[in-house]
Amino acid sequence: MQTVKVKPGSSQRNWRTDRNYDIKVCPGLLEKAGILLKELGFSGKTVIITDSTVNKLYGSSLLHFLLSNGFDSSILQIPTGEEQKSLETATKLYIDLNNLKCERTTPIIALGGGVIGDLSGFVAATYMRGVPLVQIPTTLLAQCDSSIGGKVAVNHSGLKNLVGTFYHPRLTICDTDTLKTLSKREFNDGLAEVIKYGIILDKEFFVYLENSISQIHSLDNTALETIVNRSAAIKAGIVGKDEYDLGLRNILNYGHTIGHAIESSSRMTVWHGEAVAIGMVTEAKIAMRLGLLSESEVKRIVALLKEVGLPTEVPNVDQDQLIKAMQRDKKVVQGRIKFALPRGIGAADLT
Ligand SMILES: NC(=O)c1ccc[n+]([C@@H]2O[C@H](COP(=O)([O-])OP(=O)(O)OC[C@H]3O[C@@H](n4cnc5c(N)ncnc54)[C@H](O)[C@@H]3O)[C@@H](O)[C@H]2O)c1
Ligand SMILES: [Zn+2]
Repeated sequence: MQTVKVKPGSSQRNWRTDRNYDIKVCPGLLEKAGILLKELGFSGKTVIITDSTVNKLYGSSLLHFLLSNGFDSSILQIPTGEEQKSLETATKLYIDLNNLKCERTTPIIALGGGVIGDLSGFVAATYMRGVPLVQIPTTLLAQCDSSIGGKVAVNHSGLKNLVGTFYHPRLTICDTDTLKTLSKREFNDGLAEVIKYGIILDKEFFVYLENSISQIHSLDNTALETIVNRSAAIKAGIVGKDEYDLGLRNILNYGHTIGHAIESSSRMTVWHGEAVAIGMVTEAKIAMRLGLLSESEVKRIVALLKEVGLPTEVPNVDQDQLIKAMQRDKKVVQGRIKFALPRGIGAADLT
């Protein structure tokens, strides 16, 4: 089992060590959930929040592993889908938690992808002014990205993540076996963010990915553990230094300025990771024009994304709409579109 230590805000002067927590990464880890929770001092009631798809796959096993360790656990199931990241669903969950007589010490266990993580995290942060949260992410995106960093939110008024806060879990359990039931498209979509970490922060990891795509695609246990562990460590490192997105954390937006615009102007037919892959290529070309990246480095980025099976070219979307979407981006400062650009493979600049 690999352990990543997360130390939110550790570079700040008033760093509070009580928010530190571990991300545990290993195949078959779901089985250890009860033991890991007991080790943290939890006992008694726990509530699992999950969606209908993940519940069918892993709900009853997790429940069994908790009950057999003496926990009094229940499952709250919501439908699958981004639409559930809403105040309406959060409200239903508050009512259910209250009916289950959950107290301030009752941990909420988020079992699922990024939607479940963001929504359950938001509910955990606000129910009774905050109850303990345990994340059990089950998509590659959730294990490598969305469950790390404490951003929890729901969508509102047609805007993504409009209402939210920062709230860290007490523990994150990444069972890499759960990645084996993802569709190939879903898995590849998550790989875009993994490749992003290599490009902007870790050349050695980028080279590992170049050499290991076949093992990753054949869902080899060691390869899965390596990519999740390395990605989690990289993101945790950034979050440790810039918890509230005030500077350094913005480099994680590489590929996202153009990516978000492609995602929204394709009316979501291009998925997030796919759009980020296209965004990373386009932004790499911008970096090349600015002399930050060589032509051969751009070619390596394109080759890796292609080998994974991710798109690399801007799809046939309305160009005006694309530019308008970029101008509406959160990262536009005083009318200027800001980019996080690679400076060689393994480093990045905010431009
Ligand atoms: N908080 C953050 O920092 C952050 C960062 C990036 C993305 N996000 C959010 O994450 C969400 C996207 O997350 P996602 O891509 O994980 O999507 P998701 O949670 O919708 O999951 C995708 C699909 O996979 C299914 N699924 C989950 N685990 C599975 C498994 N092991 N096997 C088979 N199917 C499984 C789900 O039921 C769902 O249908 C978005 O709402 C996005 O805003 C948050
Ligand atoms: Zn992303």
